[in-house]
Amino acid sequence: MIEHQPVLLEESMRFLQVHPGGIYLDATVGLGGHSYEMLIRSSPDGKVVGIDRDPQALEMAAERLRSFGNRFSSVHGNYAGYCDDTSGEKGGFNGVLIDLGVSSFQLMEPSRGFSFQREGPLDMRMDPTQGQTAFDYLRKVSPEELEERLNDAGEVRFAKKLVPFLLKGIDHWQNTKDLANAISKVLPRRGKSHPATRVFLALRMAVNQELEGLRKFLEHVPDLLKPGGRLVIISFHSTEDRLAKRFFSDVWKTMSVMKRVTKSPVIPGWEERKKNARSRSAKMRVYEKQ
Ligand SMILES: C[S@@+](CC[C@H](N)C(=O)[O-])C[C@H]1O[C@@H](n2cnc3c(N)ncnc32)[C@H](O)[C@@H]1O
Repeated sequence: MIEHQPVLLEESMRFLQVHPGGIYLDATVGLGGHSYEMLIRSSPDGKVVGIDRDPQALEMAAERLRSFGNRFSSVHGNYAGYCDDTSGEKGGFNGVLIDLGVSSFQLMEPSRGFSFQREGPLDMRMDPTQGQTAFDYLRKVSPEELEERLNDAGEVRFAKKLVPFLLKGIDHWQNTKDLANAISKVLPRRGKSHPATRVFLALRMAVNQELEGLRKFLEHVPDLLKPGGRLVIISFHSTEDRLAKRFFSDVWKTMSVMKRVTKSPVIPGWEERKKNARSRSAKMRVYEKQ
């Protein structure tokens, strides 16, 4: 089985103040690394609800957490819609964790189409049971929207130049490698990273409507938490981090619903960054319900 090393594990547990009998929501359960630790630290009677859009990841997490019996329950779906459903533990969580992005399992599975290091279909859906693939998205999207997505989510340089190229070429590219090779002919290399890196990120975020989902979830988070309950957000690039930071100052602070626990983001220590390359861009912010 593919390993996914949970990022900022110790720090996130400490800030969530996980304790026996507590009830926690892991909004992005993935392979269950953070959930496992929550269940250990909330023993003997704490509970964790784990959400994931990816049914395969959820199945693996459920298998890994089986020994905790009914202390763990899983929900398949988008965390953005979790508050629309009125059943369950709503309003009663001591802590909520969001660990954004994709897991190593998703990235390394060629059939999911997230990575151009491995040849795979132009898919990129976190939930392969619904929604449009990256291929469908590129065939239907308007030039204006695509340019905005590349600029905003991917911070892609030369987005204007790339848009007509992507929209014209999409029918010729069969897979992720074809697309990445084509991009590298149009975009100059930026430092060490492949020119397609940010384009793939922007496409993934568009296909999965990631920023829209995060904004919607943040609107509802205060309703999920008990007073004094905490939200921990781990993000991996500036667009998501900025969204959380602005949401706090524009909405929560103004309405006095959540207070900031961490003034500057918490980042992984030297040892974690050395052991887990994926952790290097991680930033964690923590808020508390008033
Ligand atoms: C970085 S991984 C989480 C890893 C997890 N913390 C662990 O320790 O194994 C992110 C997971 O969140 C899921 N995900 C991302 N956006 C989501 C959303 N809007 N709703 C539900 N799940 C989402 C992805 O499918 C992925 O499995």
